[in-house]
Amino acid sequence: MAYIPLCKLRNLMEGDAAPFNVEGREIMLLWPDGGELQAFDGLCPHQRIPFSRGVFNGRYLTCTAHDWVFDGRSGECRQGEDCTLARYPLRVVDGVVEVELT
Ligand code: FES
Repeated sequence: MAYIPLCKLRNLMEGDAAPFNVEGREIMLLWPDGGELQAFDGLCPHQRIPFSRGVFNGRYLTCTAHDWVFDGRSGECRQGEDCTLARYPLRVVDGVVEVELT
């Protein structure tokens, strides 16, 4: 699969979360404090509600629908059922953040 451009890296900062809809898929970029920028599935595994309605505090992403909480570094669910967010391969090319839709 090809890498798809999402945004310019300079438009993001450490501690940010940014939701995208690309080719019909919800993608959530998370850049945890002290961690690496990552691209996760943008739908909550509980009831597939988009994380675009979630809250990221720089470390944990909370789905506001039912308060499941995910670690922004690993994608592991910390409050809710045992699960881990799917992750998309991510790269930065010439200052542009790209993800590979697998
Ligand atoms: S849909 Fe996210 S916690 Fe229920």
